[in-house]
Amino acid sequence: MDEKQIELAAQIITSGGLVAFPTETVYGLGANALNPIAVAKIFELKERPSFDPLIVHIASIDALKMLTVNTDRIVFRLAEKFWPGPLTIVLPKSKLIPDIVTSGLSTVGIRIPDNEIALKLIRKANCPIAAPSANKFGQLSPVCAEHVKKQLPNIDFILDGGSTTVGIESTIISIEGNVCTLLRPGIITIDEIKNTLPESFSFNLNKPDKLISPGLMKSHYSPFKPLHIYDSEQMKLTQSSGLILHGKKDLISNGQKIIYTSHTYNPIEIAANLFSALHAMEDDETIKQIFIEPVVEVGLGIAIMDRVKKAAYKYQTKIQIT
Ligand code: TXA
Ligand code: MG
Repeated sequence: MDEKQIELAAQIITSGGLVAFPTETVYGLGANALNPIAVAKIFELKERPSFDPLIVHIASIDALKMLTVNTDRIVFRLAEKFWPGPLTIVLPKSKLIPDIVTSGLSTVGIRIPDNEIALKLIRKANCPIAAPSANKFGQLSPVCAEHVKKQLPNIDFILDGGSTTVGIESTIISIEGNVCTLLRPGIITIDEIKNTLPESFSFNLNKPDKLISPGLMKSHYSPFKPLHIYDSEQMKLTQSSGLILHGKKDLISNGQKIIYTSHTYNPIEIAANLFSALHAMEDDETIKQIFIEPVVEVGLGIAIMDRVKKAAYKYQTKIQIT
């Protein structure tokens, strides 16, 4: 990556514009988190409802001290263990963070991304960068620059860092007193987090009663065409069906297009290739409906199936089993 590109992107951020940039998870749509007008442009371009708060990306743990209040030592322990990396921690926010970033909540989600281009951009812009995934609200998350262009053709600037490595969004937790709540599963599992926190902590793995994180909505990350979970060999696959599989399978092929996210059920590979497979099926005009094989919901499988179920949710009642 040409340093001049990052320099230019940083100038766009400091002058109140928007830049799409790679992180290790998915591409983000970034603005200066301290500039409410710039942040408003994110909501406009993404067509994102104003009740859906943004994650703030920083490049050093020092910034965490400035952007949050009453931060417990334990949070720094988590940050040191998992950052830079795909863990977002939701904490009480300081006054520096404008309300528009957090949709009026008193908390803010923060992380240091594990991607050199993202870190250079944050350092050069010299401000925290608020960034949701760089897709239209509710649609598939982007894992390469082409996915961003497809959904956001009018964006000011895209830093093209190739394909992301993790492929699904960060794990999100909140820490309140001695309670850690999982708001969104990701590649960093709750067991890894448990091992880092003292035994006095309790863990809340269920959805909070009130909708405090729109990432918890049942429908999200959806392709334009019907997507069904392929959990029964009885499901009717026609030639216009696209099938996403995660391991080699003896299938009686009906001429359908098949995309493998992995050939060995390797969960890291499945996560990395999940959104690309969905985008490829979405882009293929010959495909009218997509079927995706489920994975076992343990470890990283929990985060994978979270995305798959949300992507398929709005189509689930229309399935035909013959
Ligand atoms: O990996 C990621 O997290 C990517 C990259 C770009 O960093 N970002 C991402 O952002 O996935 P987004 O906006 O698509 O999803 C962020 C989720 C939203 O569902 C939002 O509701 C939740 O984080 N969130 C942000 N701040 C929150 C807060 N203060 N309380 C609860 N949930 C929060
Ligand atoms: Mg998103």
